[in-house]
Amino acid sequence: MNIVEIIEKKKQKKELSKEEIDFFINNYTISKIPDYQAAALIMAIYLNGMTKQEITDFTISMAHSGDVLDLSDFGNVVDKHSTGGVGDKITLILMPIMAALGIPVAKMSGRGLGFTGGTADKIESIPGYRTDLSEDEFRNNVKEIGISLITQTANLAPADKKIYALRDTISCTDSIPLIASSIMSKKIAAGANKIVLDVTCGSGAFMKTKEDAIELSKTMKEIGELSGKEVTCIITKMDEPLGKTVGNKLEIIETIEALKGNMEEDIKEVVLTLGSYILKLAGKGENIQENKNSILECIASGNAYKKFIQLIEKQGGDISYVEDIQKLNKAKEMLNITKNISGYIKKIDAETIGKVACFLGAGRNKKEDKIDMEAGIVFNKKVGDYIEKEEIIAILYTNDIDKLKEAKQMIDGAIEISNNPIEKENMILEII
Ligand code: URA
Repeated sequence: MNIVEIIEKKKQKKELSKEEIDFFINNYTISKIPDYQAAALIMAIYLNGMTKQEITDFTISMAHSGDVLDLSDFGNVVDKHSTGGVGDKITLILMPIMAALGIPVAKMSGRGLGFTGGTADKIESIPGYRTDLSEDEFRNNVKEIGISLITQTANLAPADKKIYALRDTISCTDSIPLIASSIMSKKIAAGANKIVLDVTCGSGAFMKTKEDAIELSKTMKEIGELSGKEVTCIITKMDEPLGKTVGNKLEIIETIEALKGNMEEDIKEVVLTLGSYILKLAGKGENIQENKNSILECIASGNAYKKFIQLIEKQGGDISYVEDIQKLNKAKEMLNITKNISGYIKKIDAETIGKVACFLGAGRNKKEDKIDMEAGIVFNKKVGDYIEKEEIIAILYTNDIDKLKEAKQMIDGAIEISNNPIEKENMILEII
């Protein structure tokens, strides 16, 4: 078999066999195929697409390019994954609730890149918390306290890591077959047999339209069916940031408040919906409304918060920062964002807000960049709220005073005001 023939075949819009896909993935992972040939094949796939069978073979091949965890000794493990968003702290709130309700949580989370944040970075803003556990420590924690949350191990779907990085350099990130196989390869390698996917849709997400989000969801569900995994996709709105905070430490503060029951309405809707479908997939209840009630009771009883504390302590975190959130310092420099008119907030553009938070220090532009845990944005108001002239809408936080002026200019255009009342929309667009 030879890579030039494989590129030629895809260029001619023909279907690649499983053997040809395995040949490419295996040899590219060990660098026997150079980047320029891999780039040619990925571009041909981008332009000509893949059949359902090709997408599944591509996914399984990437999933098996490194370690594949076997979590079967924990029973019904349900994984949750978001396709990325701004202010998205749902994993941090939802997974302790699921663990408190008796579902084993063995969660590997990613780091942030560009305008979207990463759960692993956020939780590391609690001093001492370790995301780099060995597989044995990870398993032991799930066995002992029912939950562990770590970052991805180096050898999980290494082919995806290489192809994802390559796609970024050749303008091939926005391909539904490539995104679907990238996400599902990591989920399959991470070992769960049931998966709930939060497919975000809107300005702060990969999928900008509902049609694309539906197509991505259907593609991932089909990959699941063809590879023996049960998948539910929940399409959620990502036009404005989720909740009231964007930035690592700020989002941890909001997470702790949410686990104590003080939850923004948009967060509550997403947590209750995703959580009730996780409970359903785990065989803990068929009735979605009853599942939502169990989640609310779990929060009200304090059990969800207690499970979070247990997780932080078990992974080396200093729980005094959770018990007294005043200890979680905000950045030194701050600036209030106001408007010189009164009215209803019509838009808070998630993508621009993500970029502003990143610019203030909360995110990375390149993988190697260091992040400022204290930087970010706190919103006092959300879309649909009424504001008086000069009332504070948001507060910018950074440790780099030189950034504030430009950040203010960036954010000004992202917030729009209307004279007419604006209705708050549902967060859940579709369940597939
Ligand atoms: N998330 C992934 O893991 N891969 C993609 O291609 C896009 C989003």
